[in-house]
Amino acid sequence: PIPRKTFQTSEAASQAVAQEIATLIRGKPKPVLGLATGGTPLKLYAELIRLHREEGLSFAHVTTFNLDEYCGLDREHPQSYWNFMWRHLFDHIDIDPANVHLPSGTVAEQEINNHCAAYEAAIMNAGGIDYQVLGIGRTGHIGFNEPGSAIDSKTRHVLLDPITREDAAKDFGGIEQVPTGAITMGCGTILSARRIALLAFGAAKAAVVDAATTGPVTDQLPASFLQQHPATTFFVDQELADAS
Ligand code: GLP
Repeated sequence: PIPRKTFQTSEAASQAVAQEIATLIRGKPKPVLGLATGGTPLKLYAELIRLHREEGLSFAHVTTFNLDEYCGLDREHPQSYWNFMWRHLFDHIDIDPANVHLPSGTVAEQEINNHCAAYEAAIMNAGGIDYQVLGIGRTGHIGFNEPGSAIDSKTRHVLLDPITREDAAKDFGGIEQVPTGAITMGCGTILSARRIALLAFGAAKAAVVDAATTGPVTDQLPASFLQQHPATTFFVDQELADAS
């Protein structure tokens, strides 16, 4: 089973993850973060911004790689993950834009394989991911690695599960507006990170978190692959713990 840390609130859990990240950033000359989108990491990003403003935490020497991006959305699209990351984090810290990496949602179809290989190579060249932040989808996905994803999968084009598109429908103003595909780091890419923190809050995530942390390791629930990672912790709130 994967170690789980339970906090009274999602704020407290997010602060604990932010502290781990701050320790890494203060202690390493060229730290590399793997970052996630979705509602779950918002309080973490708010806390990192607070640490930057109030405690002088600098991101000038930090490199980031995001997990994924929707296909068909350009950077300026309000629902693109590029837009999300700048709005909720990068615009508010002193990171060098040259050190920010997200897969492209608009790369030409015949270029996708090269683009994905280049993304993997960039992670390697940066020295690999020191600290990977993850959320978890209702299907058990990490990044956009939906059920059926292989444990050793790399960055690639994927199709979104209908449940994932349903969950995104409210943000897009209807399921028909939700992209059908994405580019995501693979399960193997994620498992190569030296430390992984998965955040999950609220009763609705209890079942999938229980299955991922204590159920069988199966490609039908990609988050269960994290059981095979030596340094993963799930950070959950009391509301989730009460429902599990
Ligand atoms: C999206 C993202 C995932 C995220 C998941 C859960 O599908 N690609 O990285 O973990 O949503 O989102 P939320 O945190 O809003 O519940």
